Amino acid sequence: MSIEFQTEEEAKDYANYTLGVDDDAQKRLVLQSSITREMMGVVLPPSVVAHLKSIAKNGERPRIADVGTGPGNWLFDVRAQLRDEGVNALLDGYDLYPSLFPPEEKQKTEEISFHELNIHTRENFESIGKYDVMHIRYLSAGIGPEQWDSAFDNCLSVLKPGGIFIWEELLLEKMSINDPATWKNVLTMFKLNWSILRRNDVDPKLSALFGENLEGTSKEEFTTKNLPEKWQRMQAANMSMATKELVDRASEHGDAVVKHLGLETVGELQSLLKLTQEDFKNGCVLHMPVNRWMGVKPTPGRNMPLENSSSAERRPSWAQSIRKWIFC
Ligand SMILES: C[S@@+](CC[C@H](N)C(=O)[O-])C[C@H]1O[C@@H](n2cnc3c(N)ncnc32)[C@H](O)[C@@H]1O
Repeated sequence: MSIEFQTEEEAKDYANYTLGVDDDAQKRLVLQSSITREMMGVVLPPSVVAHLKSIAKNGERPRIADVGTGPGNWLFDVRAQLRDEGVNALLDGYDLYPSLFPPEEKQKTEEISFHELNIHTRENFESIGKYDVMHIRYLSAGIGPEQWDSAFDNCLSVLKPGGIFIWEELLLEKMSINDPATWKNVLTMFKLNWSILRRNDVDPKLSALFGENLEGTSKEEFTTKNLPEKWQRMQAANMSMATKELVDRASEHGDAVVKHLGLETVGELQSLLKLTQEDFKNGCVLHMPVNRWMGVKPTPGRNMPLENSSSAERRPSWAQSIRKWIFC
């Protein structure tokens, strides 16, 4: 669809990343990470832990990367889980906005390194070495419709053959409100034209990318709907804060962006934000459906079907055996 910004530059600037990158955003990401942990159970599924243990058994130190790490909450959870499992892995967090990184003292205590990196810049990946596990969570707001393939390929380029790629993503288009008839302000807010969030078609896109590039792929579905009441309230707070980030970023860019959303002025958008926050305070919950895609990078020559061989000559047992091994 056409975007009615005053200039192309204005549109591009706003579209780069539509959420906050300040202290408040950092606090919200800590909250969102706890909700996600509660929703998904363990951080690393047993098959991934088994893969890391097999590497450690061979005398190597497994390497794990988290791209778009923000304050590194996923990595801190991984460190805790692997400590319990007796695995001493090297953990690296990467993000475009170092302002979100945790304090250096915490980085040191937990032995986790943080580095600036843009998922869209191939050169950033060329000197960071190879990883046994690549992880991404909630990064779709930073990826445009035309950028998925290259972003995926950049991450794949640093994954070792046999390494595991995990991508967990929020499905914006499948979000639901607990009682839409009551919480009209939240409904109005989310009916605005937020197409600029650029996260359309996340599910078909990631399913295709995993299916085409990796072996033994799986997709698991999670939702906040089944969480106990206490966590539902936290999810309401999470969505209230996320809405404020979105609205504040849109407001910074003035009336052109606000008009694109379908309102007249920044003031009008800010008034709707206040009403929306009231709804969240009074019991509205906006639920997060989240998918986790996983797959294994094939070993060239061993796992990938040979181009010139017939399907009977290929190794039909590879996908089956890896699936059994990973998802048992
Ligand atoms: C919603 S946050 C998720 C943070 C973290 N993965 C988590 O689950 O708590 C999205 C993160 O992606 C980062 N990001 C946005 N655009 C990026 C890009 N082009 N390259 C790398 N990171 C990016 C943001 O700075 C932010 O930390």
